[in-house]
This record gives sequence, structure tokens and C-alpha cells, in this order.
Amino acid sequence: MRGGLLGIEEMSRENIQAILDRARDFQQHAGEPVKNFDILRGKMVVNLFFESSTRTRTSFEIAAKRLGADAVSITASGSSVSKGESLVDTLNTLGAMRPNAIVMRHAASGAPHFLSRYLPTPIINAGDGTHEHPTQALLDARTILDHRPTLEGLRVAIIGDIAHSRVARSNMYLLSKFGARVVLCGPPTLLPRELGSLTPGVTLTYDMREAIAGADVIMMLRVQLERQHETPFPPNEYFPFYGLRLDHTTLAKPGALVMHPGPINRGRELSSEVADSRQSVILNQVENGVAVRMAVLEKVLNEA
Ligand code: NCD
Repeated sequence: MRGGLLGIEEMSRENIQAILDRARDFQQHAGEPVKNFDILRGKMVVNLFFESSTRTRTSFEIAAKRLGADAVSITASGSSVSKGESLVDTLNTLGAMRPNAIVMRHAASGAPHFLSRYLPTPIINAGDGTHEHPTQALLDARTILDHRPTLEGLRVAIIGDIAHSRVARSNMYLLSKFGARVVLCGPPTLLPRELGSLTPGVTLTYDMREAIAGADVIMMLRVQLERQHETPFPPNEYFPFYGLRLDHTTLAKPGALVMHPGPINRGRELSSEVADSRQSVILNQVENGVAVRMAVLEKVLNEA
């Protein structure tokens, strides 16, 4: 593997901390004009997205531009992928234009890891199937640390479609490396039992109230219908059992943070009241996405 950023699982605590610290330098302060840093002038970043994205793609593009780099974004539907070109050929074609990094999102778990073995260009994983979404976990950690002094000892409830969530996996790896206690919660059909035994500090429950009790952070997940081949629950029964309402938040620690990687489905994963409440840091997560991706791009491009 040549540089890049593929997953949180293989990252050291020191490397994660360095990115979180550097992201703080790049955070904008409300009301101040946007500051551009010129540290990556002359570099080029290609964003290659084979799956839909609003937040991740836009923030990688903004991050690259704020650092003075050029950024080009390509989506699979408008590219030669729809003409039958293979993934390796597409990546080699883009590589021949000599970008300094390729940011990619793909529906197949492991796709960026596979390609990074064959391509000289560093690859940044912007989400691979149900596997990892490392920059999401980094921006989530940055957001928590904007409100809490440390991750150590925090109780974080991650609730929803755990089975199909790369966000849950990356967060679980990151939070447990930093000594947080993670409770994964979802319907039995969407909560793989093995996750509880694989990572220290991670426990499982099907009971949403039990997951939230005493939580410092409540992280809700979207139901990833696009990855489900059978209906894992009766559609009308999801919200009553696993949707977050305002009364649930009283079970958590006072001032607990409510998070969601987005896109949110109001009335399915959480009520509008919670999404728009003072406890919700969902838009702070989006804002931090830019600062964290600036820190990631700077690290990856400087190492290349
Ligand atoms: C997440 C993803 O793509 O994995 N979205 C994001 O990047 N903010 C979560 C999701 O799509 O549900």
C-alpha cells in the first residue's frame, strides 16, 4: 500500500490524534470569513464516487480547494463506468493523468484496498460498501471532542442498521481505540452478533432504551435500504422501536449529544423534534467534515 487512508481499523491512535489535532487548526469560527490555506498548491485530487453522496463529496472538494489544490469530481453515472469499463481500467486511466490522490467511494467492501495494491496513486477511502468510512469516524470524533474533553470513558450508543453501516464500523474501531464504551443497538436482523466479541469495549443490545440509558452520545444511523436484499423488518414498525424521540433523550446523560452521519430520514430514524433540538450536532458534523478532510488530504499528499 502506498500512503493513502483506507480504514480506521489499521490506524494507530497517534495518527488519528494527529489528524484530529490538525483539523482543529482548520476549523472555521462562526462569523469569520473563510480562510484559505495555500499548502497544497499545484497538487490535484480526483474524487471518484460510484455511490451517491452529498456531504462527503462536496466536503472533500471544498477541503482540497481550501488547501489550494485542484479538485475534480467524477460520478460513476456520468463516466465510462456506465460504458462497461472495469474498475481497474477506470482507476488506471485516472492515474495516468497523475493526480496526487484519488478519493473513492464504492459499493464493494474492500474495493479501495484492492486497488491500492495495484495503483501508485494514494487512495483515500470515502466509504467502501458495508466496511469502513474512515473520514466520517474522524469527523464524528472531532465533533464529540468539540463538546467533551476526552473520548476516554464516554458511553456512545450507535443505533440503527448496524449490519450495513460502514459508519458504525469505523466509529466502533476509533472509539474503542480511545477507551470509549460503545453500545451497538438495532433490530436482531440488523445487528450482527459477532461485532460484540470482535472489539474490546463494544456491547450489543436490541433494546433502544437500554442503549441510551446513561449515554454521553446517541449516534443514529440511516436504514440502508439500498444494501438490503430482503425486508429485515415490517416498515411501519421501525420508528416505534428504533426511532429516536425527544422523550428517549431524557434517559441519556444531561446534555448528551445527538449525532447522525446524514442523510437523515425524519420520521424513520429520528423525529424532527430531536433532529432540530439543541442537543443535535448533526450540522456541526457536516461542518467538521471539511476541516477533518483538509487534515487528511494534507497528511496523505505530504506523505506521497
Ligand atoms: C453515510 C455513508 O455514505 O456511509 N453517509 C455519509 O457519508 N455521510 C451514511 C449513510 O449513507 O447512511
